[in-house]
Amino acid sequence: MVGREVVSKAVTRYVCQDCGAVLSKWMGQCEACGAWNSVVEEVVQKRSSKISVPDNFFKIIDDFGIRDEASEGEALQTNRKITGINELNRVLGGGFVDGSVVLVGGPPGIGKSTLLLQVLLSGISGIENNIYFSAEESVMQVGLRASRLRQVEKKVMIANSNNIEQIVNSLSRINRSSIVIIDSIQTISTDLIHSAPGTISQVRYCTQELVNLAKKNNITIVIVGHITKDGSIAGPMTLEHMVDCVLYFEGDKSYDYRILRVSKNRYGPTDEIGVFSMTGAGLEEVSNPSAAFLSEHESLVSGVAVFAGIEGTRPILSEIQALVSNTNVAMPRRSSIGFDSNRLTMLVAVLSNRCRLNFSSKDVYLNVAGGLKISEPAVDFAVVSSIMSAYFNKPLPLRSVFFGEVSLSGDIRQAHLSYSRIKEACKLGFDSVYCSYKTEDFTEEGTVNISRVKSVRDMAKIIAAIDN
Ligand code: TYD
Ligand code: MG
Repeated sequence: MVGREVVSKAVTRYVCQDCGAVLSKWMGQCEACGAWNSVVEEVVQKRSSKISVPDNFFKIIDDFGIRDEASEGEALQTNRKITGINELNRVLGGGFVDGSVVLVGGPPGIGKSTLLLQVLLSGISGIENNIYFSAEESVMQVGLRASRLRQVEKKVMIANSNNIEQIVNSLSRINRSSIVIIDSIQTISTDLIHSAPGTISQVRYCTQELVNLAKKNNITIVIVGHITKDGSIAGPMTLEHMVDCVLYFEGDKSYDYRILRVSKNRYGPTDEIGVFSMTGAGLEEVSNPSAAFLSEHESLVSGVAVFAGIEGTRPILSEIQALVSNTNVAMPRRSSIGFDSNRLTMLVAVLSNRCRLNFSSKDVYLNVAGGLKISEPAVDFAVVSSIMSAYFNKPLPLRSVFFGEVSLSGDIRQAHLSYSRIKEACKLGFDSVYCSYKTEDFTEEGTVNISRVKSVRDMAKIIAAIDN
């Protein structure tokens, strides 16, 4: 490479994010366009030398892969670093990609720091120098956490720093192949910007520095980000655009289950989930989530339906519980946990309209067991079945599962991956499946009893006819 010695000098300036005006100092209202709270402090690097172009600036992509323009044939390798935690590998699409930046977001106390420390301690194939920067907790506190974790197989380098320049300088000395964890982006800052750590300009500057470092040195950087009240990571999607992969760690703190969900992935799937359970000795992988989310009912209870769902490519069974109770208030309640309450209101309206059921003096409550959140439309059929079961006070047949989307006309529509859902249900001992009348035939149908239902009205008749 021809020397690219850029001595940069940084200046700060104040820019209105609405009209682009550059102001001499920060102000609450932009002088130029009059917008409120739109002025943001920005750092501009003044370059004092010309930027030269290295010899191997252009690369070539062809059917051999990617290679240098100069070297004939030999392809450049991009590796994935496989972690000791399979659920994480699955979500990432096979491990961390070299030179990528991964953002792990989640509410405070959900277990982000625990997960990432565990990733390093359980070892990553072929790498020794893994580094954990803790800006939130002291080295002793992280040590205390590490002593709680069961699976300690590799040593981890740990440092306490909340200054981005210090972090970047220390990393430029490190062996190339490593995974670096920054916990968390909201607590590190640069001296170049005067605003407090955690503000948009600080977070954006620090992330940009880390992204540049990761690409330049081909190291993987994992950034922890806290979620703000509106559910986004530190500011309006700023960080999500800058990084390669965004993972959300979520779960209800009153339950043990934690779900790692991917919302952006430049090198892998965006619909996979990883399931963990928080124990006294750290996070444990849940390799059979279906069994975990089902509660055990030996006797028949009304208002309970099992939903055969798909998360990513993986079938997961979960239990939908409904309660329908009499009320005297003018506006009966429609309340749900783990399911969109607008959709619940809509489905109750479909039931009252298409099946002539009277919900005008009934409260309807819906709960997804185990703290799971379901957004897949195929859950509709399980939801309406559980509500009708509660309404008629007739328990649904034991060992049966439901899936299918309900349209406003009351028809049950087909769901994708029906075969995987049915197979998962059979594996867990369910022998009866209720699904859309359009569901295709299966060769092994004899082992399971599949009822193809046309509309919610037909289902209402089936449930009303159950005798218990
Ligand atoms: P933590 O990783 O600190 O959360 P975050 O970094 O997302 O803020 O997790 C803290 C919670 O996890 C805390 O409530 C204690 C619990 N925990 C366990 O239950 N078992 C453990 O082994 C550890 C380390 C933490
Ligand atoms: Mg933490």
